Amino acid sequence: MPEDEDVGGLPTAAEPLGAAPLATGGGPRLVDHGEPHPLDVGAGDLGQAGPQLGAVVVAGDPEQLRPGGGAAREEVVEEVLVHPVTGVDEDVARPERGDGVQHLRRQRPGPHGHVRVGQEQQTGGHAPSLRPAGWSPVTDRQGPARTALLLENIHPLAVEVLEASGTSVQRRAGALTESELVEALPGVQLLGIRSTTHVTEAVLDAAPDLVAIGAFCIGTNQVDLEAAAARGIAVFNAPFSNTRSVVELVLAEVIALTRQLTVFDDALHAGVWQKSAAGSHEVRGRTLGIVGYGNIGSQLSVVAEALGMRVVFYDTAEKLAMGNAVRLSSLEEVLALADVVTLHVDGRAGNGGLFGAPQFAAMKPGAIFLNLSRGFVVDHGALRDHLVSGHLSGAAVDVFLDEPRRNGDPFDSRLRGLPNVILTPHVGGSTEEAQEDIGRFVAGKLRDFAAHGSTSLSVNMPQVVTDGGHATRLGHLHQNVPGVLASVNSILARHGVNVVGQSLTTRGQLGYVVTDVPGPVDDAAVEELRAMPETVRVRVLR
Ligand SMILES: NC(=O)c1ccc[n+]([C@@H]2O[C@H](COP(=O)([O-])OP(=O)(O)OC[C@H]3O[C@@H](n4cnc5c(N)ncnc54)[C@H](O)[C@@H]3O)[C@@H](O)[C@H]2O)c1
Repeated sequence: MPEDEDVGGLPTAAEPLGAAPLATGGGPRLVDHGEPHPLDVGAGDLGQAGPQLGAVVVAGDPEQLRPGGGAAREEVVEEVLVHPVTGVDEDVARPERGDGVQHLRRQRPGPHGHVRVGQEQQTGGHAPSLRPAGWSPVTDRQGPARTALLLENIHPLAVEVLEASGTSVQRRAGALTESELVEALPGVQLLGIRSTTHVTEAVLDAAPDLVAIGAFCIGTNQVDLEAAAARGIAVFNAPFSNTRSVVELVLAEVIALTRQLTVFDDALHAGVWQKSAAGSHEVRGRTLGIVGYGNIGSQLSVVAEALGMRVVFYDTAEKLAMGNAVRLSSLEEVLALADVVTLHVDGRAGNGGLFGAPQFAAMKPGAIFLNLSRGFVVDHGALRDHLVSGHLSGAAVDVFLDEPRRNGDPFDSRLRGLPNVILTPHVGGSTEEAQEDIGRFVAGKLRDFAAHGSTSLSVNMPQVVTDGGHATRLGHLHQNVPGVLASVNSILARHGVNVVGQSLTTRGQLGYVVTDVPGPVDDAAVEELRAMPETVRVRVLR
């Protein structure tokens, strides 16, 4: 079974599409009307300010606003007139070149000005192509009719949410293998999985209709995120839905292990009365060492303090210490102080083997160890040695390197059969409350992407937050190189398409521009957008 994937930091979402006023934010802003210049636009919004007035605000890399490099010295914000039919601005403002100071300059585009933009675009890309070999950009024309395939017993609330949006839902109880997925995915737009189904590049290549994948769990390393992004397939997960469930299990286990509950329980089940206070402790006043102070670690910190525990933590990132928790500057410091060490790190590759013999040896005698994060971060052989020797007094482990794929499958571990060791089958986040929340949350993300193009909280797409209310919406996912926005608008203008709202954001090598237009867009325009060399995917949503 795959382990949960590092969900990583989520970029700030762009403002929703809609009528002006437009979003503003950090970084230099300027008005852009399609006049070619080499600025790589990082984000932008266009809204309709009135029947014949529009405004566009663009944010880019300040270094790029000054030809020749160096910091830009003037911020530019301006409202401009937009052509009432084409949506293309009548005026242009751009940095004056040469002196390093930005000057606003208004200029009438020449008769072929917008065409020139498009032409520059044809040759302007300088980054290596994102497109997988042999793969050409896809156009999705999405009406309300969609099909979703939900695997691995996803919560029925997900079905409700999707069906309410007009999606027809097929469900299967178990995970599918690669070849089963290849067979099942043609005709499916939305795929829902949990942690057991692997979505590989080969699966994606065989799924031309797929537009989004919902990982109904925290992790996403069971999905080839880069391969999905390169094909314009958005991936969503539920980063916060089961945080509280994990925290509560950790606390239950900390108390159970500190009181040796499993030892007493085993003895009585074996018919032996064995009463003793030796080795049993209150958790009050004991020190909890948290390694990884993210969503789970920081919430655990708060609840553990409420029980009277002292909390110390170590995180590789700068983290705000909650309550009276003390941030320590190394893992070793945590190990030297903690009576209980609990791991809540993410699944980045560098965490493989994070905890082995040296780390167990550095723990206090009699200390307790818990891992409810990822199986591959801990050497279970070393943990067993330190339990058997009595150096550690107990452990709880919920995640394993090789987890069985299906319920009922055999399980083995070097930790089986040890006293005061709690083994659970990756159920830290598995509560009915968490599953319900995950079902609602991820299904909502799939619905919003399918219907409105919103990539809010996607783990592999630039973030554009959109809502409904559009007549026609174009979602254009492209390689993040200078001038793509101008090319898109140039094509729309030449086909007489008026832009009433537009939002662009970028993330790494990808840019995503969502454009609202008042009516249908002709096939020739869509085909031109699809044929742009930078295009990854075009979606037409009605
Ligand atoms: N057992 C379960 O059922 C279950 C359920 C939910 C989450 N999880 C797992 O729990 C872990 C934590 O989840 P989260 O939502 O809090 O993640 P998160 O991304 O919010 O937090 C992870 C934190 O670990 C820190 N970190 C990463 N590597 C580190 C290292 N080597 N040393 C110290 N700090 C490090 C990161 O900076 C981050 O602050 C994840 O691995 C997740 O997959 C397991």
